[in-house]
Amino acid sequence: MAGSKLLLTDLASTVKQVPYNYVRRISERPNLSDVQVSDVSIPLIDLQDLYGPNRSDILKQIALACQHDGFFQVKNHVISEVMINNMLHLAREFFQLPESERLKNYSDDPSKANRLSTSFNVRTEKVANWRDFLRLHCFPLEDHVHEWPSNPPSFREDVAEYCTSVRGLVLRLLEAISESLGLKRDHIEKTLSKHGQHMAINYYPPCPDPELTYGLPGHTDPNLITILLQDDVPGLQVLRNGKWIAVNPIPNTFIVNIGDQIQVISNDRYKSVVHRAVVNCNKERISIPTFYCPSPDALIGPATELVDDEHPAVYRSFTYGEYYEKFWKRGLATECCLDMFKTSIT
Ligand code: OGA
Ligand code: NI
Repeated sequence: MAGSKLLLTDLASTVKQVPYNYVRRISERPNLSDVQVSDVSIPLIDLQDLYGPNRSDILKQIALACQHDGFFQVKNHVISEVMINNMLHLAREFFQLPESERLKNYSDDPSKANRLSTSFNVRTEKVANWRDFLRLHCFPLEDHVHEWPSNPPSFREDVAEYCTSVRGLVLRLLEAISESLGLKRDHIEKTLSKHGQHMAINYYPPCPDPELTYGLPGHTDPNLITILLQDDVPGLQVLRNGKWIAVNPIPNTFIVNIGDQIQVISNDRYKSVVHRAVVNCNKERISIPTFYCPSPDALIGPATELVDDEHPAVYRSFTYGEYYEKFWKRGLATECCLDMFKTSIT
């Protein structure tokens, strides 16, 4: 029986049809022919002059993107092409290891920091997703690296270096986003308490019928901000005005998206936008999101500078721990958790 295997990767290469437990109800299917494909899907922002005389211009571009799209792509982000290609290469190598080797990292317990798993949350979901994923905690590195896979042999060292570089990019972006909201440069960073940085290495195998299932169904990211690296196979789609837009990969760029916590801090000025990953018949796809998050004890709420008579607080304050627990329990079925934390004014 299909469901008796723990992981999808090897199973996917043997099946001619999508196993029943991955098939969505007709009303929940991706309808791929309705997806809009265009060259200008989400804004592309050049960070070259972020610390030069054009900073305010770049901040304006960031503000517009965060208000309208919740997503943008960045180039000239300082992370080298060699490092990017090496990260994607390592990810592919990991998922090509024999299943018995990969399974040493397996766990279906979402509270476990470093683990290989499949779908989203196999303990609670009714329909599975066409994805295996390795989830790693990456900050502080020394607390976690020893729990990461030790195969491929350079995995720990190279991924740790990648994490440190992405963290640098995140911190530059958080400053820029704070400033673009009219807040002090360090506002968002300061509200995080001890920061958390997680990453997922998502592996979406080729699928016999991509119209029946998802890599990941529509959801918003529960964290603060996500920095996504993807290979050259399309699959990410974002929702704009009720329509799905395909985000086609551009080499050497990262995709940045606003998560739920920045929507809260910005008091709804910036949007955490629904997105999904679809799969395709012929090619495997790899995506590597870095999720930057507050520590579980950090108190999150709208920045007081952004609350006044015209803009009353849309959300109550809460700890990130409380939010995150609700997110994993609810699953991805009901797209966004934010509604559960709204004040009565809305
Ligand atoms: C995610 C996500 C999109 C992708 O992991 O939260 O949205 O393209 N991934 O894999
Ligand atoms: Ni996401």
